[in-house]
Amino acid sequence: EHNSPDVFAQECSFYGSGDFRPNALRLSADGTGVSDFVYKSHRTFRGRLALDGLPAARADENTQTLEVTLVDTVSGCRLKLYYTVFAELDIISRYMVIENGGEHKVRIDKCMPLTLDIPRSDLEMISFYGRHNKELNFQRAPLHHGIQSVGSKRGATSHHYNPFIALCDRKATEEKGEAYGFNFVYSGSFLDEVEGDQTNGTRVLVGLGSECFSYTLGAGESFCSPEAVMTYSANGIGHMSRNFHGFIRNNVMPSVSLEPHPVVLNTWEACYFRINEEILLDFAREAKKTGFDMLVMDDGWFRKRNNDRAGLGDWFENREKFPDGLASFVKKVKAEGIKFGIWVEPEMVNPDSDLYRAHPEWALRVEGREPLLSRHQLVLDMANDEVIDYLINIFDKTFEGVDIDYFKWDMNRPLADIGSYALSAECQGELYHRYVLGMYRLQERLVTEFPHILLENCSGGGARFDAGMLYYSPQIWCSDDTDAIERLSIQEGTALIYPLSAMGAHVSDCPNHTVGRTTPFETRGYVALAGTFGYELDVTKIPEEDRAMIPEQVAMYHKYNDLVREGDYYRIASYSENRYFDCYGVVKKDKTEALYTFVQVLSRPNYHSRRVFFKGLDPEKNYKIEGEETVYTGDVLMNAGYLVQNLWGDFKSRLIHIVEA
Ligand code: GLA
Repeated sequence: EHNSPDVFAQECSFYGSGDFRPNALRLSADGTGVSDFVYKSHRTFRGRLALDGLPAARADENTQTLEVTLVDTVSGCRLKLYYTVFAELDIISRYMVIENGGEHKVRIDKCMPLTLDIPRSDLEMISFYGRHNKELNFQRAPLHHGIQSVGSKRGATSHHYNPFIALCDRKATEEKGEAYGFNFVYSGSFLDEVEGDQTNGTRVLVGLGSECFSYTLGAGESFCSPEAVMTYSANGIGHMSRNFHGFIRNNVMPSVSLEPHPVVLNTWEACYFRINEEILLDFAREAKKTGFDMLVMDDGWFRKRNNDRAGLGDWFENREKFPDGLASFVKKVKAEGIKFGIWVEPEMVNPDSDLYRAHPEWALRVEGREPLLSRHQLVLDMANDEVIDYLINIFDKTFEGVDIDYFKWDMNRPLADIGSYALSAECQGELYHRYVLGMYRLQERLVTEFPHILLENCSGGGARFDAGMLYYSPQIWCSDDTDAIERLSIQEGTALIYPLSAMGAHVSDCPNHTVGRTTPFETRGYVALAGTFGYELDVTKIPEEDRAMIPEQVAMYHKYNDLVREGDYYRIASYSENRYFDCYGVVKKDKTEALYTFVQVLSRPNYHSRRVFFKGLDPEKNYKIEGEETVYTGDVLMNAGYLVQNLWGDFKSRLIHIVEA
């Protein structure tokens, strides 16, 4: 019985082959979906192979790969399973290549590059759920028998679920217990499936799923899946986060992510669509005076774009707003002594645009059906090479001679009406995946043609916050909700998986535009410090006492940013859990310096101070807290705790900077 495929631990399982747990592959040449691949050979080598058209972790000097080749005699396909080991970081990445060596077409109907059978089920599953303005909410629940899953059918990884899950001991804490972490280096529809099975074991699958994926392979063709990654921690959930942070920062994100990011002033919450040369040159002047590095012109700069009902697709300069043209405007911004960034949303089109009127067939749609609008826009068909070529062309023309330092690439609606004019009836099921490949092609082109440009990705905030996008851009706007208190949980969720340096975070005006809350300017600064740090407000209109604080905040960013970008992140107390306060810290790798952020969300009566137990310090080292004389050992600060003195009022905060004494 123990040799039955239904109970055996598998590295890849095949639909219809007697393994009745969720399968990794459903593929056949004869329409049955049944395959049965058997081992043929394997080899190991240093480094890794490139994944055709897909983002993937970069090899370093220690990277090694195992390639296992299997064959299915009936379909004539070869299956290659790749295991790339990043030993220093405790990460193994997995992807698969299917080669059709037979004479007939083969159809793949499910593809999950990562399978892990764990011989126990006394585990809990951690995943994230959310929505627009409320991304990455933590949830943790005991595994049960049956299938548990998170996924996306939106064509982007989505605000709603992230392609990350973890399985941990029932008692696992930040520092203790085992945790297995899984992620997908991909930015489209996905599926993470977990089954607590009949043997009290656990099967984990990460991949493209079946509902939003099918692919037809002609004779001689091959298909390469995106890569999924897994890590293991014997020292709690915090250690798992740090494994992912190190891996994503060093091996996935572009090398510019290791450098300081500019402090930007973004125009969105400051002006929305009401922008023009005069207003923005005022901003540029103020920005320079205040110490910002860059002005980012958000939505509203191009032809007929005065609200969100029109203009997407028509990437032409707007002479009403910029009378001498874009290039001349940018020159004037630069003359003020700051850099310049610009917003684009290449994947979209408004029906009210010249592009749509000329090429309605370039939008996703199903013949005979009325397409669904979202934010008054439709999605361009990124699976159609003509569309990609058009976009490359139009952006080249519009930005020729315009001195741009930074692009913010947005994507503001999910995919619906999944039909492509460019694909045959047989291949329509490939659209979700081909869309992502087309989008990657455009991103790849942008970063290779313009290597000096800093790319920030965004998808209505965090709808595409994933390792795939981080391969191209060292930062992603993590939520349209800029309220400092809401951000505590959004950023905590994001930082459970992704490095702090990747999180787009800005100080914005109050009452906050999303929730109407008023928080101290100081707290807004401290919270944004955990991410890329920047501003999104009208510097010319905010209260004088707030404006006066900005140079200090910018100096604070410069003082701490190396630590925030490169240090190890520790969660200490979560406001989402305790409803009163939040605390997290970043510790320098050699443990000589640390920065902790404490936010008292709600004040309580008769609480004169709050004891927090720092983490990540060296118990043997002596430390001093900036502004205080006492010398503490790391042991004391971590195990006896530190009393944060009374902060009067809600939403008050403190930064606690510790250096070795
Ligand atoms: C999205 C982004 C915002 C802003 C607007 C512009 O919502 O997340 O930051 O760029 O689009 O339309």
